[in-house]
Amino acid sequence: MLTPSSFSGVNCDGLTIDGTAGMTHIAVLTSGGDAPGMNATVRAVVRMGVARGWVVQGVRNGFAGLIEGDFIPLGPRDVGGIIAQGGTFLGTRRCEALKTPAGQATALLALRTRGIDGLIVIGGNGSQRGAAALSHGGAKVIGLASTIDNDLPDFEITLGTTTALEVALEAIDRLRVTASSLQRVFLVEVMGRNCGFLALMAGVAGGAEAIVIPESSTDPETLGEEIRAAYRRGKSHAIVVVAEGARLNAEHLAGYFTEHAERLGFELRITKLGHTQRGAAPGLVDRMLGTRLGVAAIEHFAAGQHGKVLGILNGQITSVGYPALRTDNRPLDVHLLEVAHILAR
Ligand code: F6P
Repeated sequence: MLTPSSFSGVNCDGLTIDGTAGMTHIAVLTSGGDAPGMNATVRAVVRMGVARGWVVQGVRNGFAGLIEGDFIPLGPRDVGGIIAQGGTFLGTRRCEALKTPAGQATALLALRTRGIDGLIVIGGNGSQRGAAALSHGGAKVIGLASTIDNDLPDFEITLGTTTALEVALEAIDRLRVTASSLQRVFLVEVMGRNCGFLALMAGVAGGAEAIVIPESSTDPETLGEEIRAAYRRGKSHAIVVVAEGARLNAEHLAGYFTEHAERLGFELRITKLGHTQRGAAPGLVDRMLGTRLGVAAIEHFAAGQHGKVLGILNGQITSVGYPALRTDNRPLDVHLLEVAHILAR
């Protein structure tokens, strides 16, 4: 799916975003939660843009930096070595100001006064809503789908998700070791906001005894009985992967289990993976995905295309126009919960 051969042909013909010859100025920013692979994307944007003779600027700290006019020039050497780094060297913010008409007007003015012909926005759901507003306001924008939550239903896997899952799996594998030694139950809470994708994948791949996600209701009494049944079958541990957005998150479940500890008869610990899932260095898949997205953004601008978000669907770079971009949560295959349950026997 992410092989070098799936890059489209790179044609450095020096066309501007409008398809006319001349110097093009583009800007790139990262927004919202940082995701492993963002740096690989910026690197690809800078080097592919410069290879076309374009001028590339970075905007520091997401839309907040755009509103403040915090731009830095970026050349090929400024992005050296960052392909291997997690986070985003440009910095990022969650920006309330861009939700207001005044904030949007200031951002549009900042682009106009600097003569920016095209803006690349690397971010997730909320960030792409902000980018859509700027696109609607007349800016030439290309969004790149990036969030560890993988909650954008138009694309199959967003930038950073795979690395975040690797972190979760490593944690689960380690927790199973100590859980087994002491015959304990571990509630492992993973990120994902309102989407259970991370929990479902980490739970299935981590061999969890149970998985709790927002997309399916969980009765704590039934869950407690499932855990006791696992011990009766001879298990020495139970790992329950819980999505942070589930109606009963790890804290709620722990409260219930602690209250009924004597009756339930198992010892419990909680581990919240939280932001550790975001901070890892990007693995192969996210380095390749970030690189492909950055290259594709430049190619789309060069072909005069903008006003869309790029992501991966069926292994290919796919674009969705801002007006059509879905902002509801990705529907999950909850049948996998049943499969995971059987596989954990
Ligand atoms: O959207 C990415 C994400 O990591 C979510 O999984 C999580 O709920 C949220 O960001 C945390 O946000 P913050 O870093 O602002 O606390």
